[in-house]
Amino acid sequence: MKIGVIKETRPGEKRVAVTPQVAKDFIARGFEVVAEHNAGLDSHFTDEDYEKVGVKVTDKENVFKEADIIVKVNPPSEDDLPYFREGQVFIGLLFPYNNPDLVKKLADKKVTAFAMELIPRISRAQNMDVLSSQSNLAGYKAVIIGADALEKIFPLMMTAAGTIRPARVLIYGVGVAGLQAIATAKRLGAVVEATDIRPETKEEAESLGAKFLQVDVGNKDISEGGYAKEASEEILRKQRELVDKSLFNADLVITTALVMGRKAPRLITEEQIKQMKRGAVIVDMAVEQGGNVELSQPDKIVEKHGVTIIGKTNLPSLLAVNASELYAKNIYNFINFLVKDGKLHIDKEDEIIKGTLVIENGNILKQ
Ligand code: NAI
Repeated sequence: MKIGVIKETRPGEKRVAVTPQVAKDFIARGFEVVAEHNAGLDSHFTDEDYEKVGVKVTDKENVFKEADIIVKVNPPSEDDLPYFREGQVFIGLLFPYNNPDLVKKLADKKVTAFAMELIPRISRAQNMDVLSSQSNLAGYKAVIIGADALEKIFPLMMTAAGTIRPARVLIYGVGVAGLQAIATAKRLGAVVEATDIRPETKEEAESLGAKFLQVDVGNKDISEGGYAKEASEEILRKQRELVDKSLFNADLVITTALVMGRKAPRLITEEQIKQMKRGAVIVDMAVEQGGNVELSQPDKIVEKHGVTIIGKTNLPSLLAVNASELYAKNIYNFINFLVKDGKLHIDKEDEIIKGTLVIENGNILKQ
């Protein structure tokens, strides 16, 4: 089986789907790997690094000609589409529900396609879970970006000139990104508070040293398959009442709240921003999914009412070296699960296949 690694073309994207180390691991297991010229360069992996471990480096056309499996981070671009051929397998992020045209065009090429973002949240699939591996890094980077924009230090500092009180950080959403944001802010010395609508997150937030602000959600089942369901207006109102005091006292706010398949919940309004401390910073990690914060804009820094609101998309790409390493490991685990004795085994009864298989030999299964 030959794996083809394509250079990403999404603007600002620096990641690569397979690193030289993971290519080496694939080759050790009997795969061949062929990569497009400079596929890993933006993650600081040169063509020579790939060649040293036995990867053939060539142009895009040849990669598509030779490979049985095409791997990418982002969905295929318009430019990739003409190269796909019948029977080829695509593995990468795909977002079929947002990209129906792309799915149709891929299906017309009679390919088989798997969407890595749809890996189910079961323990067996944890090492293939690209959303987790990337969100974890994004949570770290969001705090670093926020700390940089804040004109204050994080830790308590006692100096001859006086004592500096520690910064107060508030985190909305205690999922993978939120937990890493808590850990990072704590390590930098801030006082950290966190909130989530899933009650089970209380213990996790507290174990990392955050004070948890628990929203009363009644006895409603608020999550499904590891994902939060959409919160009712009443729950969101209760959350605002509970969290407002902390919000108005916070120096840095990180919002990470997402609801699978829906627009991100709106958690902070302009009215609330008006009441925040001047000089406070908000990093809206959900900006690409519509934003948790009323004034945030993708890849813009908005300054309003004395508050800086940062909406950065694709945070993992800012940590391209680690993000590529982890993404590549996820891909490695997924392909090793999929390929047995040099052949593709698509067991449609398996939960992981059921979750991720979008197109099978040109038949669209998810849209
Ligand atoms: P996510 O990215 O879908 O959402 C982030 C967080 O926002 C979640 O904790 C969610 O509850 C929260 N949220 C949603 N609406 C909210 C609201 N209105 N207010 C406040 N918070 C809100 O979730 P993520 O980070 O991908 O994972 C969530 C959980 O799934 C993890 O904590 C973990 O327990 C589980 N998980 C399990 C995996 C496995 O077993 N393979 C892999 C990944 C996650």
